[in-house]
Amino acid sequence: MLIVLSVGGSILAKELNPDSFRGYADALKELAKEHEIVIVTGGGASARDYINVARSTGANEVECDYIGIDITRLNAKLLISALGDAAYPEPPKDYKEAQEKLSSGKILVMGGVIPGQTTDAVAAILTEYLGANLLVIATAVDGVYSADPRKDPDAVKYETMTAKELVSTVMTTEMKAGSKSPVDPLAAKIIERCNIETIVMDGSDPQDVLKAIRDENGKTDKKAVYLGTRIIN
Ligand code: UTP
Repeated sequence: MLIVLSVGGSILAKELNPDSFRGYADALKELAKEHEIVIVTGGGASARDYINVARSTGANEVECDYIGIDITRLNAKLLISALGDAAYPEPPKDYKEAQEKLSSGKILVMGGVIPGQTTDAVAAILTEYLGANLLVIATAVDGVYSADPRKDPDAVKYETMTAKELVSTVMTTEMKAGSKSPVDPLAAKIIERCNIETIVMDGSDPQDVLKAIRDENGKTDKKAVYLGTRIIN
């Protein structure tokens, strides 16, 4: 199975600690024994810090996005470094390059590609373009909620939802450089348009990501409680 995994910078580079890169590298090497994998790394707090400084000094939103992209690519390079020989040595710069490099048999790790989106959208577009079987969005929230759980105590988590429901839930999110949402609206639209089987989950522990993928692949126990929110069509 070919899997695209979007790992939020808020997970991977929360405090720019080598342990989180090592932890993900170990889990990904394990996963690569069972599946082909492409990872898209986010920018996290560093991207937001850089974007805020750029905005304050007069950069426009597209310029801010380019700065964000650079930070996501730096995180990709750190993960590549932690993966060593198991990874393709450079992050592909766009979707076509990712497709070309897939035949290398190595784990591909890349960051952002064009302004106006986040790495969740990159991962969703890659999933469709590469014909991947599953998209996993590993983020700082343990799934998709009816409202922002940090602001609304009545917010409830969806175990499963349709892509259409996902779109209406996230559409209200602001599309500004560095803004936060569980899945960005463009990614949600692509998941809907392309019928992409998706899991949105807490990626704090990379072993949970392994478990969620194995559960999804096996799907043996219909009553099992799965991690995160599964987007089904
Ligand atoms: P992220 O994907 O990290 O955004 O990209 P995020 O919402 O902050 O996600 P977390 O916190 O990592 O989970 C960081 C910034 O880089 C720019 C955007 O400005 C985005 O907010 N970016 C990223 C792009 O413009 N295009 C891309 O393809 C990717």
